[in-house]
Amino acid sequence: MGKKRLLTGLQPSGKPPDGKYSLHIGNYFGALKPFLAVHKEYDSMIMVADYHALNALRNGQQLRENIINIVKDYLAVGVDPKEVVLFKQSDVLEHTELTWILDCLVNVSFLMQGHAYKDKVSKGADANVGLFNYPILMASDIIMYDIDVVPVGEDNRQHIEYAREAANKFNNTYGKTFKEPKEMILSGVGVVPGTDGSKMSKTYGNIIPLFGTKDEIVKAVMSIVTDSTGDIPTNVYAIHKLYKSEEELSSLYAEHKGKYKALKEALIEDIEATTAPMRERRTSITDEDVKRVLKDGGDKARAFAVAKMQDVRQKIGVAL
Ligand code: ADP
Ligand code: TRP
Repeated sequence: MGKKRLLTGLQPSGKPPDGKYSLHIGNYFGALKPFLAVHKEYDSMIMVADYHALNALRNGQQLRENIINIVKDYLAVGVDPKEVVLFKQSDVLEHTELTWILDCLVNVSFLMQGHAYKDKVSKGADANVGLFNYPILMASDIIMYDIDVVPVGEDNRQHIEYAREAANKFNNTYGKTFKEPKEMILSGVGVVPGTDGSKMSKTYGNIIPLFGTKDEIVKAVMSIVTDSTGDIPTNVYAIHKLYKSEEELSSLYAEHKGKYKALKEALIEDIEATTAPMRERRTSITDEDVKRVLKDGGDKARAFAVAKMQDVRQKIGVAL
């Protein structure tokens, strides 16, 4: 039997106002590393969800930069395009075509239960139709490729339910065509805390950048909030745990009891040991490399999607 199929998607968007994309160590330990740990067990695809990003990012130059940067980051952390089909959504037009077909099957009232849309709009996001319809485009991304599992964060659980619903609606109407995918909730390390102790997030400005320069890392680590009472600086320790085992840390923290600066310096060294080689690798990846990888991945994805859509067009009755 062949391997099961896996697909995940990443939006090349950042937080307003500029929409610039950047990765932090919370993304790495919470999403990327767990993905790298499982992807070899499957026929894996990673898709840059550039059409999804359009619902919030309306600056062409910024979107272009973000796409290039996101692919560089993924190649630098160890995604191997020989093993994974790495492609961009807009290169396979069949996704938007399938979205329309599914739009005509899924009920508005069902989509209105989507909490991502309500959450985002309540936080001030532009309430455009693209944002509302986001789950149907995402369903197309997934069911197009007969996907079995979709690694996502908890916040995307409901989107996978929509993908199952869309597949099911189509199958019930036109006959078995699509697989119903399952979510794989990546819970590798739980929540990585930021420099202020709350969840690390680009929105809160409390991040340690994954590809930061040594100076940026030093600055971020030195700014980690420590309380002056305990022997162990909890926020420093929580981040340190991602890099060293508890045994290693217990001797280190015993040796430097109460010496916060020394502990932060040790943390900087450990972050550097992991980051420096990735940073090095990233600088050697050119824009041309990215375009080549995306072209190759796009060709592979498109071949699959074209065949699938031939069947779909036949079944819905537009292929004569
Ligand atoms: P941010 O909160 O910085 O905007 P995103 O929402 O873009 O991050 O998250 C991208 C991925 O990284 C998601 O899969 C998410 O679960 C994971 N992630 C983000 N922040 C953290 C964190 N602090 N700890 C663990 N995982 C995280
Ligand atoms: N919704 C995902 C996010 O929050 C991005 C995404 C788009 C996606 N299409 C997908 C994830 C398909 C998994 C599968 O970033």
